[in-house]
Amino acid sequence: MGKGFFINKTVGIVGIVLAAGAIATIIALSVVYSQEKSKNNENEVKPTGAVTTPVPTTEPSNEPWDQWRLPQTLSPQTYNVTLWPRLQPDATGLYIFRGLSSVVFRCVEKTNLILIHSNKLNMTLQPTLTALGSKPAPIIESIVMHTKTQYMAIHLKDELTAGESYELYTEFVGELADDLGGFYRSEYYENGVKKVVATTQMQATDARKAFPCFDEPAMKAVFHITLYHDPATVALSNGEIALKVNITVDDTFVTRTTFAPTEVMSTYLLAFIVSDFGFIEQNIDKLQIRIFARQEAINAGQGEYALSVTGTILKFFEDYYNVPYPLPKSDQIALPDFNAGAMENWGLITYRETALLYDEEISSNGNKERIVTIIAHELAHQWFGNLVTIRWWNDLWLNEGFASYVEYLGADKAEPTWNIKDLIVLNDVHRVFAIDALASSHPLSSKEEEIQRPEQISEVFDTISYSKGASVLRMLSDFLTETVFTQGLQTYLDHFKFNNTVYTDLWEHLQRAVDSSTSTPPRSVQDIMDRWVLQMGFPVVTINTETGQITQEHFLLDPETKPDRPSEFNYEWFVPISWTKKEAAQPLYWLFDDNWVLANINVTGYYRVNYDNENWERLLNVLQTSRQSIPVINRAQIIDDAFNLAKAGIIETTLALRTTLFLASETEYMPWESALDNLDYFYLMFDRTEVYGPMQTYVGNKVEGLFDYFTRLTNWENLPPGHTDQYNQVNALRVACSTGLEACTTLVKTWFEQWMENPNVNPIKANLRSAVYCSAIAAGGEKEWNFAWEMFEKATVASEKDKLRAAMACATEPWLLNRYLKYTLDSNKIRKQDATSTIISIASNVVGQPLAWDFVRANWEYIFKQYGGGSFSFSNLINGITKRFSTEFELQQLIQFRDDNAHIGFGSGTLAIQQSIERTTANIKWVKKNQETVLEWFINPL
Ligand SMILES: *[C@@H]1O[C@H](CO)[C@@H](O)[C@H](O)[C@H]1NC(C)=O
Ligand SMILES: *[C@@H]1O[C@H](CO)[C@@H](O)[C@H](O)[C@H]1NC(C)=O
Ligand SMILES: *[C@@H]1O[C@H](CO)[C@@H](O)[C@H](O)[C@H]1NC(C)=O
Ligand SMILES: *[C@@H]1O[C@H](CO)[C@@H](O)[C@H](O)[C@H]1NC(C)=O
Ligand SMILES: *[C@@H]1O[C@H](CO)[C@@H](O)[C@H](O)[C@H]1NC(C)=O
Ligand SMILES: [Zn+2]
Repeated sequence: MGKGFFINKTVGIVGIVLAAGAIATIIALSVVYSQEKSKNNENEVKPTGAVTTPVPTTEPSNEPWDQWRLPQTLSPQTYNVTLWPRLQPDATGLYIFRGLSSVVFRCVEKTNLILIHSNKLNMTLQPTLTALGSKPAPIIESIVMHTKTQYMAIHLKDELTAGESYELYTEFVGELADDLGGFYRSEYYENGVKKVVATTQMQATDARKAFPCFDEPAMKAVFHITLYHDPATVALSNGEIALKVNITVDDTFVTRTTFAPTEVMSTYLLAFIVSDFGFIEQNIDKLQIRIFARQEAINAGQGEYALSVTGTILKFFEDYYNVPYPLPKSDQIALPDFNAGAMENWGLITYRETALLYDEEISSNGNKERIVTIIAHELAHQWFGNLVTIRWWNDLWLNEGFASYVEYLGADKAEPTWNIKDLIVLNDVHRVFAIDALASSHPLSSKEEEIQRPEQISEVFDTISYSKGASVLRMLSDFLTETVFTQGLQTYLDHFKFNNTVYTDLWEHLQRAVDSSTSTPPRSVQDIMDRWVLQMGFPVVTINTETGQITQEHFLLDPETKPDRPSEFNYEWFVPISWTKKEAAQPLYWLFDDNWVLANINVTGYYRVNYDNENWERLLNVLQTSRQSIPVINRAQIIDDAFNLAKAGIIETTLALRTTLFLASETEYMPWESALDNLDYFYLMFDRTEVYGPMQTYVGNKVEGLFDYFTRLTNWENLPPGHTDQYNQVNALRVACSTGLEACTTLVKTWFEQWMENPNVNPIKANLRSAVYCSAIAAGGEKEWNFAWEMFEKATVASEKDKLRAAMACATEPWLLNRYLKYTLDSNKIRKQDATSTIISIASNVVGQPLAWDFVRANWEYIFKQYGGGSFSFSNLINGITKRFSTEFELQQLIQFRDDNAHIGFGSGTLAIQQSIERTTANIKWVKKNQETVLEWFINPL
């Protein structure tokens, strides 16, 4: 899945009872189907038992249906799945889909139990079992639905025979809910007409919500998919369309679209979509590439950018993996309602609109970068993840970490002038350092038995899996060299294609590549990587230029905390050290003189660096006098390391603050962004204290030079030429305005007023919109806010909507923010997919913080039930609303909140609650220790 955007599934608490109205057509569909398959039915046996649900029991049990993992007794081979989603509600107002499915499975070990996943599906006919061999199938004794473990258990009178194959046939109905999971519906308006799309999100455990299946990634099979749909709509699935016919079923004229059978694949990668979307296409060699979206968006050309980069990226990965793209087509589709950023369904990748659609006039370069990197991420999965799949979710980090690393390589091929590969340091390495430095962090790899329930599986889709995974794989590729790394990768993919693996399988293939090369890491790949993968956290390497000693230590943001988990490696790592003095990178060789030393060139290593005081002083001096001799990535690193070392009490806070002094003359994006990220923490801790004023003055002074630089460069009329320069132009504007620089606030006010006078012509440059909107709404009142809301409702480009949605959280009048908070729980106003991120935006505003916290506390039960028990985004929500906490009182409130809601639970936010408590405790200590010093320093910064 695309990173950074987290699944937030609604659990079906929809209490509406389905009335009999739907049943008539269900039966009609089943009649048609049984005519088609009647020739197969000779061995069919009528079950004697009824479908029941088990009597609730409190007894613990070792029965297979009480386990979260399937037994290994049966192995699916092929499925025939026919689904008919209804895009109009039935008489009771419910949207439903009907389906038939037959699965052929082989019995591996004799058993009298068929356990198959099925969640929220109602069987409309007794399931039937047919033997495909010579012996007749056993008679079905009873069928029990286990809602907790999401199984349908079919108990047989006799045993299935090992080595024989059987076919299980089911007919069922499910709700096509707007819950963003399984087979679900997305809605939007086009020319005033409401339109409904039926679409899917199966990962991780929701294929079972679309049809009964053996819903584990290693239970690969071939899928024959058929969709029934209105002739005016288009049906899509993983495979190409094999046959399309019009038929009449129960007085309804429908198209039946049959897809070519899939390759052998996992259930979580399936996709079925019915819509009236438009598309554009391109053929490269024999490969068909298409981009689908709302007709309005396609007609406006919003798919063109995605189409223009896809072929390049696919070709790049074919070379990189040395395996041809495994499918005959590649479809990508943008959906109005979609919870993750994107999903790598094999051959039919789904995206939220902002991750795929680009409008030259309206979208920013940040939107563009997001699109090209997410496309690269999902295309990378078409091999790594889809062709070769992890055996179980505990190894998810390998799948997501890998895609999160190579997305930069793919995007770089499509946009070679952007230096996009450098940005992994800010976006992933620095970002995950912040989390992995907590005592409550966790190792990349978990044991299979620790990851069992759907909500535990959701919880592994976190920043550690994506960003730490990406960071350590980048380090590995760097120290093995890219040649050796890709060599091992290629044999791994070739050897395991259409199969499943554990992460050590990759190490084995990399080891073979090492053995046949001249690369000489000091230990085996496995020995080195075990330390990065099996223990949480990372080291801080201390280089003492006086003594020439290098030491390592587990880096904890709060050194008084103890890591949650013991490590068999004692928190020691094999650390690849690269270093430089003056300009050239050197082989590892000790020679110290009075000159500065800098380690971890380009932050390819997953560690922080500390030095003796003298070397720090020398580095500060170089930054001030000849910063060009330090690579730009390392200028960002020095700041980030210093601030974090200071936070951990390893160096003085004032030393960290001094790393920002050189910014007065710096114009590069990465150092600025790194500094702003770190100063953000100071804002969070101090924007309600007397430190605020002097801090604003200091930051304002620094940014003035940057603002002037961009004024001279383009006078705010044109874009600076470089990609990251464009980002820094935005930083200049945003920070200059937020620190009250008059030249900036006047500029912004004028632009926004011009727009309000003539809403049909937005004079604000696409890149600058987020910053301008936020600044204007913060300075304005009800009139500005209502105007933004109106524009939000009218906007037809999703990225534009997102900018307005975030900017409306910048308001400073509490009543506006409270009203906005209420809107987040009304899906007619704010789409469910956006609810939690809107609340988080409000909480990051100093005025909105207490309002959002009260709001979440007051509505926790409702939010939790509406927005998903097994969801991803609770951890984001909880971290988002508590990140400013830094007082005893807030800590007590947080603990109270945890205890008061223990009976409701926190789902995927469980760990985040712990992390928030830990973070708050650390913040309290930090503020107590640093407030005085920081205040003095900002008053007199030297
Ligand atoms: C599944 O469908 C395919 C093509 O529609 C057909 O050839 C095959 O016999 C079906 N298999 C089963 C088990 O129904
Ligand atoms: C399935 O059955 C349950 C219980 O009778 C009912 O509440 C639900 O609405 C049904 N779902 C569908 C889609 O028919
Ligand atoms: C099915 O019906 C639609 C609408 O009448 C028509 O446009 C389409 O060509 C028909 N498709 C086939 C395969 O007959
Ligand atoms: C999949 O891999 C396993 C373990 O390496 C191997 O035993 C099995 O034969 C492979 N299956 C296929 C279909 O290649
Ligand atoms: C560090 O990164 C820069 C910018 O991407 C690159 O030009 C340089 O070659 C890298 N240095 C090393 C030693 O890899
Ligand atoms: Zn992914």
